[in-house]
Amino acid sequence: MATGTEHKVETTGLVGWIDRRFPLTATWKAHLSEYYAPKNFNFWYFFGSLALLVLVNQIVTGIFLTMNYKPDSTLAFASVEYIMREVPWGWLIRYMHSTGASMFFVVVYLHMFRGLMYGSYRKPRELVWIFGCAIFLCLMAEAFFGYLLPWGQMSFWGAQVIVNLFSAIPFIGPDLSLWIRGDYVVSDVTLNRFFALHVIAIPLVLLGLVFAHIVALHEVGSGNPDGIEIKEKKDADGKPLDGIPFHPYYSVHDFMGVCIFLMIFAAIVFFAPEMGGYFLEANNFIPANPLQTPPEIAPVWYFTAFYAMLRATTDPFKIVLMIVIAVLGVIALVRARGKWRVGLPVLAALVVLAMYFTQSKFWGVVVMGSAVISLFFLPWLDRAPVKSIRYRPLFHKVFLGIFVAAFLTLAFLGTKPPSPAGTLIAQICALIYFAFFLGMPVWTPLGTFKKPPERVRFKPH
Ligand code: HEM
Repeated sequence: MATGTEHKVETTGLVGWIDRRFPLTATWKAHLSEYYAPKNFNFWYFFGSLALLVLVNQIVTGIFLTMNYKPDSTLAFASVEYIMREVPWGWLIRYMHSTGASMFFVVVYLHMFRGLMYGSYRKPRELVWIFGCAIFLCLMAEAFFGYLLPWGQMSFWGAQVIVNLFSAIPFIGPDLSLWIRGDYVVSDVTLNRFFALHVIAIPLVLLGLVFAHIVALHEVGSGNPDGIEIKEKKDADGKPLDGIPFHPYYSVHDFMGVCIFLMIFAAIVFFAPEMGGYFLEANNFIPANPLQTPPEIAPVWYFTAFYAMLRATTDPFKIVLMIVIAVLGVIALVRARGKWRVGLPVLAALVVLAMYFTQSKFWGVVVMGSAVISLFFLPWLDRAPVKSIRYRPLFHKVFLGIFVAAFLTLAFLGTKPPSPAGTLIAQICALIYFAFFLGMPVWTPLGTFKKPPERVRFKPH
């Protein structure tokens, strides 16, 4: 980590003693009191620190839950009820954890949307974005493993459905899903390993990634809503003209965000912890019963957009996808340059061939996975000459709006039982989702861009 010997350190007292052995003052200065952040951060820049807050909440409440939870299929459900009814303040800890899981996704989705709006993923923040995408993947895994633990009907059947998806992978699928479950159905063995993954393995990876995310960010410096680099204009002391020290300016600013967030969080925890079945599903208050499938199996709201894409991949949609990929292959043959001219059409032909011979269920899994993986490529797909949406042509704003609307529609449809109309709409939205990413190299350089200002736009308030 860039602790920077350039920062003046204490030489006397306890802090001096520590500083001679550990870069305490240097780290404080490099990352807080002398970390210069752009002075024009707006509302959208609250969500990084809020994500950190929720992360801490999940770890602390998780530790307390573990003290009374039993990762045993005969005891798990009752141990959660015991936490809710008998353990002093157990209900609060449990609701803070379950609400925290949903709020984690609310905060992270808003944080990612900020990235899309202001081009925060563009050079030099590509790695910050990639670590972020890896965090998002881990977060999904963490939520999935955690959801099995209460051992309710939805826990059991949700895990059953998702693990079964892996069996659609050609050749290795059935063995792979058996290996993940550790049994022929979701069982006590599965519960034990999901518990281990949820309480230690994934959190360790998550913490490591969050650390890397912040280190990478502080190496290149924070972006801002104008999308200009504040490091490019410095005063005689080498301090960015448009920057202010993170501490105390943004520590105070973020503290205000934390207070407002905590009010909303507390209102949910105390008055609507189930959030009408969106945060805690009604079926999960029934103990897991391997002999009785619930009438509807739907994942928690934060997975439903991806789940809707999975369900939308029917046999006819597979044919549509094959046609789209074939057309893209032909376009690559005509337009691509260098080795791409041969590579891309050959790849497209192989994918179409593979699709012809494999079932649509597998391609549903591929579509769902690709929806997340596409995010990783964003820094190289966007070719616009400016970062921020503020200076892009109107149609860029419209495209981003359509993309978000398609994602929200998918999320809504994923909470509903399948219907012919719903499936058709989900298919259209899935196509819009991928068209947004795949089309980026073509549409992002087009249109008339406004010239970003020389210095950040900032109105004191
Ligand atoms: C546990 C989850 C996460 C935590 C704790 C976290 C934390 C942070 C913090 C504290 C910042 C600096 C403050 C800010 O810009 O808001 C930041 C910036 C950033 N994060 Fe995250 N983040 C998380 C997830 C993600 C995800 C999932 C993505 C994207 C896929 C992402 C992408 C970014 C980017 C691109 C920046 C730089 C923004 C800029 O400087 O313009 N983060 N993150």
